[in-house]
Amino acid sequence: MADPRKLFIKTYGCQMNVYDSERMAEAMGGAGYVETSTPEDADMILLNTCHIREKAAEKVYSELGRFKELKAAKPDLRIGVAGCVAQAEGEEIMRRQPLVDLVVGPQSYHRLPEMEARTSNGAKVVDTDFPEEDKFEKLKKRPQAKRGPTAFLTVQEGCDKFCAFCVVPYTRGAEVSRPVSQVLTEARDLVERGVREITLLGQNVNAYHGAHEGGDWTLATLIRELAKVDGLDRIRFTTSHPNDMDDDLIAAHGEVDKLMPYLHLPVQSGSDRVLKAMNRKHTAESYLRLIERIRAARPDILLSGDFIVGFPGETEEDFADTMALVEAVRYGQCYSFKYSSRPGTPAAERPLVDADAASDRLARLQALLTRQQREIQDEMVGREVGVLFERTGRIEGQMTGKSDYLHAVHVTGDVAVGDLRRVRITESGPNSLGGVLV
Ligand code: 5AD
Ligand code: SF4
Repeated sequence: MADPRKLFIKTYGCQMNVYDSERMAEAMGGAGYVETSTPEDADMILLNTCHIREKAAEKVYSELGRFKELKAAKPDLRIGVAGCVAQAEGEEIMRRQPLVDLVVGPQSYHRLPEMEARTSNGAKVVDTDFPEEDKFEKLKKRPQAKRGPTAFLTVQEGCDKFCAFCVVPYTRGAEVSRPVSQVLTEARDLVERGVREITLLGQNVNAYHGAHEGGDWTLATLIRELAKVDGLDRIRFTTSHPNDMDDDLIAAHGEVDKLMPYLHLPVQSGSDRVLKAMNRKHTAESYLRLIERIRAARPDILLSGDFIVGFPGETEEDFADTMALVEAVRYGQCYSFKYSSRPGTPAAERPLVDADAASDRLARLQALLTRQQREIQDEMVGREVGVLFERTGRIEGQMTGKSDYLHAVHVTGDVAVGDLRRVRITESGPNSLGGVLV
């Protein structure tokens, strides 16, 4: 038998892209490809791209340029661009970078093997459809090979909220939930393969409304059902919109033991004026009240969020409101970004905030967020937490896992990958915790 051809995938952006990359690798597995971790020995290179901020797309173009020599040395090498830049730019990618053989969007990658076959005579292939058919139905059943203890599972995609800054409604399309039976089957299969923790993914995951006979299920109903799956020990979900945190989902945080005490709930800004301009459809006050209700259900929950500074029209006073909101919430972890104008979005038409002012605000916000993160991490010292071990650590004999609160935890001791153990936290470092087995 001929050696299998090798596929190198590089993934940018969000966790949904990580999930999609895994599914694309599996689909190409059916076409005789095995994955490799080095582009140099690949027969096909696929960049799974992100379009959320400007630099993301620029990084893709500079990365593509670096494959020039590889392609010259191996003319048969296929180069493909997938994901959200592919969706947004389409054929433009090949015009800007003629090395590229195929461009496939996030809703049509079930056609990837067939597209790859069509490139064999040097043809250029582009597919950025939003097809009628469901890619998840068309993708073959996932392989049964054993795998690591944590997995992502996309349950919902796309978005109908149209925040004024965001490309997602254009790159991922309208909001669609996968049917309940599809999700449950995939979750049970993952558990069979050794998975103990599943993170349910969606751009708006708490708006999940999966078809089920007798009526659609909400995310809370889905989580309660998944919690009954033997062998599945931890459930997480990301990312959520404040307006879709319904009562039952809040209650589930207090009632479902397997639902981990960590919630990513982006607010973007603490200024009502900016929130309105962003078309967020909530206020700073309604967000703070929501956090109070969530903390009432699960007092130890660790909150994370996303912030944008320098949104068009943002003043120093608006920014002060953001800082005040952060002080009020106390986040365990956060992502913060300078506003980046995205073509085709409503905010792209608006005048930009002075670049230096925006950089300065970002630095101040990040200093505050880092301080909070460190404080909350330091408060973990002395506490006992669950840790699911994911890999061997960098130091001999050390194992690394994630706590219930999603902190990276290093432990030296007799544990294996996939073990879920109680750990007493003894140290807090810049980005991780150290502990001892209980
Ligand atoms: N500019 C800067 N940050 C953005 N995000 C989304 N769109 C933009 C943009 N145009 C951030 C938001 C979102 C996260 C995934 O990325 O904070 O929650
Ligand atoms: Fe980036 Fe958004 Fe696409 Fe994820 S969905 S890859 S964050 S543009």
